[in-house]
Amino acid sequence: MKGEYCVGSASFLSFAAVLLLIFVHVGQINTSTVPHGISMAKVNTSGYAEALGDAFKVPIQGLYAENASTPLGARTGLRRLYEFGLYSYCAYVNTTAGSCSNQTIAANFQPYTALTSDMFLNYSQYSDAIFVDTTFMNSSYLGYNAHVAYYFLLLGAIAAAVALITGVLRMTFAFFVSTGMSVVASLFVLIGAAIWTAIVKKAEGVNAFDVAQGIPSGITVSYGTGIYLSWAAFACLTASIVPYMVSCCTFRG
Ligand SMILES: *[C@@H]1O[C@H](CO)[C@@H](O)[C@H](O)[C@H]1NC(C)=O
Ligand SMILES: *[C@@H]1O[C@H](CO)[C@@H](O)[C@H](O)[C@H]1NC(C)=O
Ligand SMILES: *[C@@H]1O[C@H](CO)[C@@H](O)[C@H](O)[C@H]1NC(C)=O
Ligand SMILES: *[C@@H]1O[C@H](CO)[C@@H](O)[C@H](O)[C@H]1NC(C)=O
Repeated sequence: MKGEYCVGSASFLSFAAVLLLIFVHVGQINTSTVPHGISMAKVNTSGYAEALGDAFKVPIQGLYAENASTPLGARTGLRRLYEFGLYSYCAYVNTTAGSCSNQTIAANFQPYTALTSDMFLNYSQYSDAIFVDTTFMNSSYLGYNAHVAYYFLLLGAIAAAVALITGVLRMTFAFFVSTGMSVVASLFVLIGAAIWTAIVKKAEGVNAFDVAQGIPSGITVSYGTGIYLSWAAFACLTASIVPYMVSCCTFRG
């Protein structure tokens, strides 16, 4: 293969990976269309009121918030959908109207804390009794792992950007740096994506959890698009290693 084509395909793959990782990072920073569509994990609480009602044999009233503009974490009512990003989470009363938490670097993935901090005190006390000892409730475990995974995804994105930039400098040494950075980036993105996949999988345990004999929780955890984008970025970075390596060895522009 001619050197130009080789480095061209490597640059294209690095560029795609950087773009995908940028999209992963903007997930849930606000409620506008693109960030709304990208999250690492989603929690749908739509069935929880019915589950509580069935379990306690009492009508459950006022569990959910109807007003999307009241602040999160202030016991103003549970939202029907929570979506978690790398910097913040957003909660939606219906498919469109929602609000987001404050942004923090390496925001923790603590779905149980997010949900119960929106519930009125009596409902959060019921929930504490129901979900005791589940991984879904173990906010420190989920939060810590998400925190670590964030840094791997961030450093992976930076390494991918360095590979992209050095790849266009036509020098053997620069290709050597690009190759190394692609290897580092794909390894870091692999670790970040794998940790996120694992913790969401663990939190998914709540989907099959019964609040009482034969009554499922009505809470559904699922993977967000950000996890798929991270795996796609990993695939691009891995695929870019060989063309960078070939350029490094053969193309001495
Ligand atoms: C949430 O789950 C309910 C059923 O429990 C479903 O009807 C609804 O479409 C789900 N919402 C989203 C946004 O996935
Ligand atoms: C919704 O909440 C906001 C902020 O707390 C408040 O200003 C507004 O009046 C509320 N809207 C309704 C319809 O209750
Ligand atoms: C969502 O809720 C907001 C505020 O409560 C409301 O204005 C809007 O019409 C609702 N949208 C849908 C699709 O139900
Ligand atoms: C979010 O930020 C605002 C303004 O910076 C602050 O007033 C508020 O207390 C913060 N909320 C939380 C939950 O930390």
